[in-house]
Parts: sequence; structure tokens; C-alpha cells
Amino acid sequence: MNGFVPPPYPYDRLDRLRPITDAFDGGTVDLSIGTPFDPPPPAVVEALSTSGAERSYPPSIGTPALRDAARNWIERRFAVDVPIAQIGATIGSKEFVATLPQWMHLRTPDRDTVLFPAISYPSYEMGAILAGCRPVPVAMLPDGRMDLDSIRADDAARALLLWVNSPGNPTGALDDLDAAARWGRAHGVPVFSDECYVEFTWTGRGRTILEAGLDGVVAVHSLSKRSNLAGVRVGFYAGDAELVAYLQEVRKHVGMMVPGPAQAAAVAALDDDEHVEVQRQRYRSRLEQLAGVLGRWSGVDVALPAGAFYLWIPTDDGWEYAERLARDGGALVSPGEFYGPDGSGFVRVAVVQPDDRVQLVADRLAASTR
Ligand SMILES: Cc1ncc(COP(=O)(O)O)c(C=O)c1O
Repeated sequence: MNGFVPPPYPYDRLDRLRPITDAFDGGTVDLSIGTPFDPPPPAVVEALSTSGAERSYPPSIGTPALRDAARNWIERRFAVDVPIAQIGATIGSKEFVATLPQWMHLRTPDRDTVLFPAISYPSYEMGAILAGCRPVPVAMLPDGRMDLDSIRADDAARALLLWVNSPGNPTGALDDLDAAARWGRAHGVPVFSDECYVEFTWTGRGRTILEAGLDGVVAVHSLSKRSNLAGVRVGFYAGDAELVAYLQEVRKHVGMMVPGPAQAAAVAALDDDEHVEVQRQRYRSRLEQLAGVLGRWSGVDVALPAGAFYLWIPTDDGWEYAERLARDGGALVSPGEFYGPDGSGFVRVAVVQPDDRVQLVADRLAASTR
């Protein structure tokens, strides 16, 4: 067989550490996947069961109510007005990220390259691979922004799209979205801006690429992180009129439909900002707590990120750190190489677990160093 063989799923590779962490009294504390554990607001859960939207097929582009709620949120949050026609629904942003290169390649068959940050969420690269396209990582500057000047002219000429992610997973760094939009326009390359962590921006205010104008750019948002709805699978994209119209049409043919009750829940979530503030405080205090705990345990200060809910910790060998933390703290974390070869000297800690579980890790680590 010489066809496509899916590589091991990154988080499945942690299974070898699980027997170590499972053996702890109280079991594994999973700080590897960035999956929210805190509850969504009750009104959102209520909307899931009372929308009456389960009988008929939901509109693939999103219900008028969902697109309107997304539009209002963008206006409220960033003071940008996006016409409702330029907004479409996603079944969470992962499917959008992983399928986008196929649709972009069908639209522009003479281009074949997907540009993405060299240290990043693995689905940017995987989407290119699944489309039979060329994934080309863009080098990062020491401050975590992409080094756009390092993109070679021949790669830019072949590029179907550029991904930018700010605040970024795994580093939490804030990228220069204006510069990304400018680069895309100068090179005729659509820029897709994954902004799923924007509500968790710790230094300065959260930004969208749409503030640089809608032409040639698309912002991608998700309710998974903002409203603890990863299990409901709903998000949206918004931006350039022509790109959004094309994607809406092609995604209709594929049957990309967010279930009606999920769309109703997303409306309730987008209309409410209070729960986001509560969640911000939770992540903020867990980041501070875990940075302190891991700093004391390892003897090396742990820096707080500019955004998102991960600690991105430099170390000699990410796997070795992960194994040590599994043995001493019964916690699972992600070796940095999950996010690209340049991440191998790091480890990523997701502060998603409830406070009592985070405290459990703190207690175990304190006991291990006594
Ligand atoms: C950068 C980034 N983009 C997209 C996603 C996908 O989120 P969802 O599909 O739940 O919207 C994640 C999830 O961890 C992420 O970290």
C-alpha cells in the first residue's frame, strides 16, 4: 500500500504515560488536550433542549439568528460591522481548518501550498496533507510572531492561503494581524485568522483581523473555548465577501451542517458576555497558580502567556519533562513537538482542569520535592 496512512494522533502518543498517572490516588489529571471542563451557562444548556430545531435540516450557512448573533458579537467586541451575508457557520473550527485547503485548491487548482505558523495547532498542517497539498511552515520570531519576511517568493506564489493564530496555540503569543492582512493583500494570498482564543487575551485587548478591513481576510471563531461548548460543535467564519460566499456554497454541497439545537445554544452563548468574564478569571488564576507550582517544582521560573490558556515552558526535552511530571504529579501534559519540530524543546500545559484537580497536582508536586 502506498496511499495515505494517517499518522498517530498526537494525544494518543501520551497513552504510554497514562499507566503512570492512573496509578496515583485520585488518578490522572489531564492537562494535555485543551478541552474545556468548566460548565457553560445554564441558559445555553436550556436552549439546547428547547429550540425545537431538531426536526428539520438546519441551514448549512447558519440560521439567520446565529449569523445575526455572530454579527452583533463582532460589532460589540471589536467595533467592526460585517454584513450578515459574509458570515457562515462551522461545526466547530477544527473541521473548517482541516477541510479548507481542499476547497481552496479546487477553487485555484494551479496553487497547492498552505502556509502556517511553524509552531502551531497541528490541524493547519494536517488540512494541507488531507488535501494532497504542500504544507509549508512559516518560521517564528523569538516573540512568537510569524516571520512573514522569511516566506520565500516561490512559496508565496504557490500559496492557497496563510494561517495566522492569535492568541496562538501553543505559545499564547499575540501575532500582528495587520501585518498578516497586509502581507496577504500584497501577495494575493487569502489570510485565514484563527481567533478561537481571542476572549482569553491577557496583555492588551483581544483583536480580530477584520479590524484591518474585510478584503482578502477571513476570521475563524469558535464557541468551544469562549463558552465551554466544545462538545456542542459550533463556530463561525466571517470576512471577505467572495471567499465567504464560495465557502458557504461548497460547504452546503458537503453537508456541513451545525445541528439546529447547537445553533440555538450558540445564539444564547454569543448574546451573553458575563460567563466569559467568569471564565477569564478562572483561566487567569489557574495560569498563575500552575506557573507558581511548576516553577517551584522544577526550580525554573515559568512565564505567563500573553493569551490563551496554556503554559509554554522551555525545557531540554519536552518528552522527558512530560514523563517527569507524570511520575511526580500524576499529570499529563503535551511535549512541544506535537506542535511542530521547532517545539521539541518545550512542553505545553493546558490549565483546563477544575481548581480541585489543579490543587491535587500542586499537592502531589509539593510532596514529591519534600
Ligand atoms: C488554535 C486552535 N484552533 C482550532 C481549534 C479547534 O477548536 P474547535 O473545533 O472546538 O472549535 C483548537 C482546539 O484546540 C485550537 O487550539
